Order: sequence, then C-alpha cells, then structure tokens
Amino acid sequence: MTVAVELSGVTRRFKLRGRKDPLTVLDDISMVVPGGGSIAIVGLSGAGKSTLLNILGLLDRPDEGTITLFGKDTTALPERERASLRGKTIGFVFQQLNLLSGRSARQQVAVPLLYEGGRSLRRRNELADEALRRVGLAERLHSKVSELSGGEQQRVAIARALIRDPRLILADEPTGALDPVTAAQVMDLLFATAREDGRALILVTHDHVLARRADRVYTLDAGRLYTGRPEAEPEPSRK
Ligand SMILES: Nc1ncnc2c1ncn2[C@@H]1O[C@H](COP(=O)(O)OP(=O)(O)OP(=O)(O)O)[C@@H](O)[C@H]1O
Ligand SMILES: [Mg+2]
Repeated sequence: MTVAVELSGVTRRFKLRGRKDPLTVLDDISMVVPGGGSIAIVGLSGAGKSTLLNILGLLDRPDEGTITLFGKDTTALPERERASLRGKTIGFVFQQLNLLSGRSARQQVAVPLLYEGGRSLRRRNELADEALRRVGLAERLHSKVSELSGGEQQRVAIARALIRDPRLILADEPTGALDPVTAAQVMDLLFATAREDGRALILVTHDHVLARRADRVYTLDAGRLYTGRPEAEPEPSRK
C-alpha cells in the first residue's frame, strides 16, 4: 500500500482575543490516507475541519506534530519549498472559494498554470476550457466570475483545483452551493481523479450521504479525530 498522506500527533492552538489560555482546535491528531483513497471529515461548525485542511494543504503549520505528503516530511521545509510542493501536488477547493471576481472563468481557472510556467497562453486556455467543460461550464468560459451563480462559481473553484492534475485534492464543502444532481456529477469527477493510483481526496462536508461515498469517514469533535460517524447523528439524511 502506498501512503499518500500521513499526519502524526498534529496539534493546533489559537490565541483568542480577550482570552488568556489558547484554544486547542486540533488535539494530537493522527491519520493515514492510502494512495488511491478518499476520506471524508465531518463535524460540527467550529470543530476545526478547515483548520485541518489548511494544515494538510501546507497553508498553516501545526504547533506540534508532522505532516508527510507522498513520503516527504513537510515539517521542516522552508516556506518556499512548501509553496512549491503545494503548487505541484495539491488542488485546494476552499470553503470561501477565493475567486477573483473581475476575471473570466477561463482566466481564473488558468491561474495555477501561470505559477507553473512553461506553457503558452493558448495551451493554458485550452487546459482551462477543458477543466471548465468537465464541471459543466463549457458555455461560460468568458463570463466574469462575478456574473456567475454561486454554484457556477463553486464549479470554477473546482476546475481551478484540478487544472494542475493534483495528487492530493483537498475539498472544503465543495458541493455546498450545488443542487443534488450537479453535486453528484462534480463529486464523481473528484472521486474518479482521486482513485487514480497514488492520489487521494480529503473531503470536508456536512452532507452525510456524500461523506459515505468516501472510503472512510472521520469525525472531528472537541479537537479529536474519530473513525466513523457520530453516534448521535440523525439518520438517514433527508436531503
Ligand atoms: N486564525 C485563527 N485564529 C483564532 N481562532 C481561529 C483561527 N482559525 C480558526 N479559529 C477557530 O478555530 C475553530 C475551528 O475553526 P474552523 O474554521 O477550522 O472550523 P470548521 O470545522 O471548518 O467550521 P465550519 O463547519 O463552520 O466551516 C473555530 O472556533 C475558529 O474560531
Ligand atoms: Mg470550515
């Protein structure tokens, strides 16, 4: 079994304004995601899901613990190398999307290719158009991001995350703005990408039906990570 991601003893604390003791958001978290695998993380609002994804995506560092991505221990890497590894390896679908509203869908999706360098404008546009086609936005290549609906913007963010063919996809509520049919199509794409050998998908969602499509479900609660779904969860989901 190849290992895509390994977290060991990850702890993250935040200093809160007006409070003396720091808040421990992640408390000694360890997990392994095998290559070709997918996991879903569920948990209440404020449980630390986005904090965990930011650490996995090398956008934040833990106070304690290590993150190993595809066999490379990232703990001691300098910021430049972390940024380079992030760009090459990780496709991130942010909860807040982080899109540039003045750009066209095509320009927005092509941004990660600019950082990569070495491709002509024409080739970058071709790849962006292809990625947009895969999320059902072939007709909206030239629309400004600000003119797109919430769900269309979410799909632009997904196309951008996939454009560099990432080995690790981190998706924070990637279908929150989508109807069930479109959500299922987009998730088919993310799961299919992750299943390719040696890749992985880590999905954060409040949707338990969607979470069950992953190989494994974890619950974050009071800083700890548990295997499986919470006992008290109302079920089945009526979505
Ligand atoms: N930079 C920060 N400084 C201080 N506190 C923070 C910071 N980032 C997150 N927190 C706190 O950490 C906790 C976890 O936040 P996080 O965004 O990870 O939650 P979440 O599980 O993603 O919630 P949601 O489902 O609402 O998106 C929250 O209480 C939040 O206020
Ligand atoms: Mg969050």
